[in-house]
Parts: sequence; structure tokens; C-alpha cells
Amino acid sequence: MLHFPVLLEESVEFLISDLDGSYIDCTYGRGGHSQKILSKLSNKASLTSFDKDPEACNDAKNISNKNFSIKNNSFSSLKSYFSANSVDGILYDLGTCSTHLEDASRGFSFMHDGPLDMRFNNKQGSPLSKWINSASYDDILNILYKYGDEKHGKLITKAIIDMRMKTELLSTSQLANLIEDCYPEKRKKLHPATKSFQAFRIFINDELKEIKDSLEQASSIVKKGGRIVVISFHSLEDNLVKNFFKPKKIGFPKDIPINTIENKEFECIAKKIRPTKNEIEENPRSRSAIMRVFEKL
Ligand SMILES: C[S@@+](CC[C@H](N)C(=O)[O-])C[C@H]1O[C@@H](n2cnc3c(N)ncnc32)[C@H](O)[C@@H]1O
Repeated sequence: MLHFPVLLEESVEFLISDLDGSYIDCTYGRGGHSQKILSKLSNKASLTSFDKDPEACNDAKNISNKNFSIKNNSFSSLKSYFSANSVDGILYDLGTCSTHLEDASRGFSFMHDGPLDMRFNNKQGSPLSKWINSASYDDILNILYKYGDEKHGKLITKAIIDMRMKTELLSTSQLANLIEDCYPEKRKKLHPATKSFQAFRIFINDELKEIKDSLEQASSIVKKGGRIVVISFHSLEDNLVKNFFKPKKIGFPKDIPINTIENKEFECIAKKIRPTKNEIEENPRSRSAIMRVFEKL
């Protein structure tokens, strides 16, 4: 199983400002970006990569480079490993790997039948099936709206509750089929289960909170002049990233003539970078990627 790294040249080019520096790849996956970064750095530099997925960390054992290390931990734990102003660049390539989608046993895909799991770290917490068989109507509907923007959320939630009365929902194909059956628009470019699967995956991995927590830590541990590069795959991620780096407004008491000033910690040095036509042809999964780069002032 292969994963093609997205925006590989562009992201690594922006990330590295000092060939002897210290770097973090927050999302190792199958090491596409990590290997590229290592190939550019000098032997005085270092790269620490993170991945929640034990299988990704197992793959990282193939990299024999004394300046490389892998942490089987969430990128929301950066501050346990790094101190303030100590790192030259931090990369995020968010979302799932193709390897997750192709491995039926991980339960991410509506194309392959497998257990309804969807956890990045399948050794921690509970699979999606545990939650979906006991969650309330309102909770399921809320997830479909909030993380999937699924306009047929009510129909899908009702179909899930109806199915649960007959049998437990344990597999990806049970969920995909019930969504397909209740979906009013039959001929769509996207599979009817696309948005729901995205929503449940974001929820079960608490993805948006983890990104926000991690960016808070990243913005402190990156040095002045250091860069944070983020590749997002949907608007929830991209909006979170964009808004996170907006200058924070500082308010003053009413009797001071200035109302607010902006506290600008980062400069956005590249925004809305998208894959070329060639890259999309070679790797269709890259089509929704969008990259932003921020430099600490
Ligand atoms: C798109 S893949 C990265 C692919 C990688 N850049 C490559 O070229 O092979 C995203 C990876 O991030 C991991 N991941 C998702 N959320 C994470 C988190 N909160 N902490 C650490 N890793 C996470 C997933 O397990 C997945 O392997």
C-alpha cells in the first residue's frame, strides 16, 4: 500500500530556512515528507516526526538516520518534547493517508468492508461502532452537520437509529449502504457516504481540537523566523488554520483613545497554494489540498 505525498516539493521548500536546523513533521504517515526533509538537511540538523498511528511509526523504523526520531504520539503533545523558541520549522499534512483508506481493517473507507473503527490510533479509545450504537439522535445529527455539512443529516440519522433497532451497526458497508439507500440524490459525483464518513472520522479522532491545541504549542516552540507549514484537505481545517494565525486584537479601557491594536505574531508568507494539474492527474487525492505558510515575526 502506497501513499503519495502531497505538495511535496513546495511544502519542504517553504519549511526549511536553515539546513542545520531542527524540524518537526507532525504527520509522518508513510514518511514521504519526512524523507524529503531529511534528504535536504545537513548532518548537524534534526527531524522529529509524530504520528498517532502505530502502523505509521512501525514504517518509520525503515529510516536509518541518526538525526531522525519518531514519536508515536499526537501532535497535540509537542510541548512535552520541545521548549519555547527551539524549532526552525513545523509541518502538518493533515487528514488520512491512502494507506488508511485502502486497509479495510482500519474502517475508514466506504469502498471496502471492514470494522467500523476510523481511529488513527487503533490501540487507544473506542472504535466508531461503540459510539454510533449508543449515541442519541441529536448527537449523531450534530456531528453530521458540524463536521460533514451534510444537508441530508436528518434522513441519515433516522436511518441509523432505525437500523440500530434491528441490528448493531458494526461494519463500514452497513453504514455506507444505509446512507446510500436513504439518500435522495442518487446520481451524484460524490458517493453519498463521503460527507458522513468524513464527519464521523473528524469526530472520533477529535481532529479539530487536536489541530488547534497543536498550533497553540507550535506557535510557541517555533523560533523567530521559523515557519509553520500546513496542508489542509477541507474547509473546516483550512478555516481553523487561517483564523488561528489572524492577528489577535488587544482591547483597551474606554478612557484610552485607542480602541484596539493588533498583536501580529506571524506573517502569512504563502496562502492558498494548490497542487499543479500534473500533480492532481498523478494523484487525484491531492485535488482538495490547500497549503498555507506562516513565519514567526
Ligand atoms: C496525510 S497523512 C501524512 C502523510 C505523510 N505526509 C506522507 O507523506 O507520508 C496524515 C497522518 O497524520 C496522522 N495524524 C492524524 N492526526 C494526528 C494527530 N493528532 N497526531 C499525530 N498524527 C496524526 C495520521 O495517522 C496520518 O498518518
